[in-house]
Amino acid sequence: MNVAVVGGQWGDEGKGKIIDVLAERADYIVRYQGGNNAGHTVETGGEKFVLHLIPTGILRPDRKCVIGNGVVVDPVAFSSEVKMLLSRGVDPAGRLFVSDRAHLLLPFHRRLDGLGECLRGEGRRIGTTRRGIGPAYADKASRSGLRLCAILRRDFPRRVEERCREAGRVLEALGGEAVDVEKTVAEVTAAAQVVRPFITDTVALLHGAVRRRQRILFEGAQGTLLDLDFGTYPFVTSSNASACGVAAGAGIPPSQVGRVLGVIKGYATRVGEGPFPTELNDDTGALLRENGHEYGATTGRPRRCGWFDAVAARYAVMVNGIELWAVTKLDVLDRLDPIRICVGYEYRGRRLDGFPADSGVLAGVKPIYEELPGWRVPTRGAGSFDDLPSQAREYLSRICRLTGVPLGMLSLGPEREDTVVLTDPFAEDGA
Ligand code: GDP
Ligand code: IMO
Ligand code: MG
Repeated sequence: MNVAVVGGQWGDEGKGKIIDVLAERADYIVRYQGGNNAGHTVETGGEKFVLHLIPTGILRPDRKCVIGNGVVVDPVAFSSEVKMLLSRGVDPAGRLFVSDRAHLLLPFHRRLDGLGECLRGEGRRIGTTRRGIGPAYADKASRSGLRLCAILRRDFPRRVEERCREAGRVLEALGGEAVDVEKTVAEVTAAAQVVRPFITDTVALLHGAVRRRQRILFEGAQGTLLDLDFGTYPFVTSSNASACGVAAGAGIPPSQVGRVLGVIKGYATRVGEGPFPTELNDDTGALLRENGHEYGATTGRPRRCGWFDAVAARYAVMVNGIELWAVTKLDVLDRLDPIRICVGYEYRGRRLDGFPADSGVLAGVKPIYEELPGWRVPTRGAGSFDDLPSQAREYLSRICRLTGVPLGMLSLGPEREDTVVLTDPFAEDGA
């Protein structure tokens, strides 16, 4: 059985931590979309790691990790992440494989991203991570991108140079600064040498794993509501972050995706612009931000915080086929009383069915709340579901009932050890 771990909200649900726990039970950990816009945090033994591009599974000795064809790879970011890992005693050599079909994200993509944001102006800005993700995927879709297999060719520097000149013309036409072609080619070719030994035909590699019935853990980045097709468009990222992206982005048949585990926080956060129906611009929102240390793992931006949104979560269940929840950061709610859950949306006086496609409509909905009592005692350290205070059990049960998905894992603190596994998602019968 393979397992796909996906964000059920707007990213930063604690996927990194959950994947780190599950990686112990997996043979391969595979990123299938996104790029170094992700920030996945793992805390263990008093140490904190934040991974952006390399799968979180790399922190588990002997686990094999794959950056799939659906990822956009910034070679400069990749080489600095490899350096960071080596400096902290984690050697990815021989167990990290990067798809030869993945697209390169080059320095001018970052500049195009930043310039695009400036040009969009107030109200239309997406609030991207400015890592160049949108422009890199745009090049892929418009068939002008460079793939990692190009690094293996002797004419790679010339190809990068050509792309730099083309992008330079676009940047200048948009009012941006010219590209220093020579400097960019030198920077990219140097970083490409670091990536080179990791480049592999990962489609064949993963098919071998499937044939041998090894366990594959797919590591989603971002979240369902940031998915290019199913998220709050245009305030989304440029890839399929949902489980729908797994097959295309990892190069495995859809029938091999396996069980889908959705990760959700006990409340909601969003970083960047876009509609957020349950957002709290008050003391409660500030309390969630401080208790939950809700500051971006990639950009350091304060995250917007709000109540748990069961309408959005139900939609995530439908889009991904989520069979189990991992609920994280329940401990952050320890001091809140009462706690609210959004159970419906009202728009212009009428209750909406489902999650609207139009971000303008979503921005105008009024959440319908249900109130539950808080528990007002620390939950960290609870070893099982039954150890939790009754109000916390009731809160979790309510989320599960409202979404029709059982609780599979529970996280009560940032450390690896603060995790309760109720159902092993790898188990063939789900038990
Ligand atoms: P990801 O992008 O989904 O991997 O999530 P991030 O790493 O961006 O953000 C999650 C943050 O919450 C990180 O700082 C984690 O260390 C932290 N975290 C994860 N699970 C828990 C939890 O159960 N309780 C608390 N207090 N913090 C958690
Ligand atoms: P992880 O994997 C939270 C958001 C950005 C912006 C939008 C588009 O850590 O959950 P992009 O740079 O992708 O073009 O930005 O998506 N965003 C994230 N928000 N967590 C992430 O990753 C995100 N990656 C992108 O803030 O709103
Ligand atoms: Mg994150």
